[in-house]
Parts: sequence; structure tokens; C-alpha cells
Amino acid sequence: MFNLILFGPPGSGKGTQSEKLIARYGLKHLSTGDLLRSEIASQTPLGIAAKSLMDKGQLVPDEVVIGMIDHALVNNPKARGFLFDGFPRTKAQSEALDALLKKKGASINVVLALNVTEDELIKRLLNRGLTSGRSDDTKEDVIRARIGEYHNKTSTVADYYDKFGKVVLIKGEGSVDEIFDALSAEIDKRLDK
Ligand code: AP5
Ligand code: MG
Repeated sequence: MFNLILFGPPGSGKGTQSEKLIARYGLKHLSTGDLLRSEIASQTPLGIAAKSLMDKGQLVPDEVVIGMIDHALVNNPKARGFLFDGFPRTKAQSEALDALLKKKGASINVVLALNVTEDELIKRLLNRGLTSGRSDDTKEDVIRARIGEYHNKTSTVADYYDKFGKVVLIKGEGSVDEIFDALSAEIDKRLDK
């Protein structure tokens, strides 16, 4: 198995690059943001509870997203690997993910961390808010709250995996294709081994 975390702040291009990476490498894409938005669309109790936090730009509780990932791992026994997008976002989520993968005899191979300036993140998200229909993209104070959650709770995930030498920083500005090439080069190095 090859398991990859695509890491970075809101708007850094995780979703955009994930689409291209799963097409090239045949990995199963697991985005907790997408899973939560699909719960909201189906108006499940989980979705309704999550929406009020997401609309404020706050993280949903660890046990909610860990449960969703546990479920997805169990339901995809034949996947050749997973691309985690927007998960893990706290140290507790990182530890839970490692434990869930261990049960499958697997682990995280690499964490590719997209680096983008805050001005660029805000510009991208406000721009997407014009058309995305995502309620957390339209207000600048909510976007700033999301970035605040990233600094306060999520950036520690990179420190956690850095201890295992698994983090590679990637310049997240430039054309989508340039960034994709840089990400692919790091994956190829590790697939060759
Ligand atoms: P989530 O859905 O994960 O959103 P996010 O991390 O805030 O970030 P985005 O998905 O908005 O950005 P992205 O990095 O995917 O960038 P994208 O490719 O879209 O989470 C939403 C909420 O759900 C959270 O706030 C939280 O409440 C909850 N949640 C989710 N997971 C959770 C977890 N694990 N724990 C707790 N709570 C959780 O690109 C952004 C824009 O930029 C697009 O318009 C794109 O076209 C454009 N763009 C992309 N690349 C480039 C480029 N190179 N140049 C110019 N523009 C570009
Ligand atoms: Mg995304």
C-alpha cells in the first residue's frame, strides 16, 4: 500500500491536486471536508451538527472525523492506497490514523505539505466563494477563522510526522501543473523504493 497525506492550510490546493494525483496513481481519495459536506447535503444528524461548526470556520470534533475515516478504511479493503486530504487536522487525529493503518499492516509513506502565503489563500477562497456555494468561503472573517484553526490546531500535524522524517514541503504557488509535477516527483521517488 502507498498512503499519502496531502497537507496544507485552507485554499492551499489540496482538493485540486488530489483529483490529479488519484487519477495518476490510482489511490482512493479520502477528504473529510467532502465527506462532511455530503452528510450535510443528506441532512443526517451528523451533518446537521457539523454544519454549525463548519459555518463558523471551526473544526468538528475529532471522534466524528476519526469515525468517518475508520468507516472508509474498512469499506475499501482492496484499495492500493489512500490519499488523505484535510485529515488528519489534530495530533489526536494523527495518532488515530496511524493506529487504524497499523491494523491494516500499513502506515503513512509521506506527508506532502503545500506552502502558500496567507494573502494568496484568502484571495483564492474569496474568489471561489463567488461560485462554490460553500458557506464557509463567502465571509472573510470565516476564512480567517479557518486559517486560525489551521495555525492553532492543525500545523502541529506536520511537526508530528516530521519526527518520523515523513514531511516534504512543496511550493504551493505557481501553476496547477507545476505544483502537480513537484508532488508527483516526490511520490515517484518513494514508489521506486
Ligand atoms: P475542507 O473541506 O477540508 O476545507 P479546507 O481545508 O478549509 O480547504 P479547502 O478545501 O477550501 O481548500 P483546498 O486546500 O482543498 O484547496 P482547493 O484545491 O479547493 O474543510 C472544511 C471544514 O470541514 C473545516 O473548516 C472543518 O470545519 C471541517 N473539517 C474537515 N476536515 C476536518 C477534520 N479532519 N477535522 C475537523 N474538522 C474538519 O483550492 C482552493 C481554490 O484555489 C480553488 O478555487 C482552486 O481552483 C484554487 N486553486 C488551486 N490551486 C491553485 C493554484 N495553483 N493557483 C491559483 N488558484 C488555485
Ligand atoms: Mg479541499
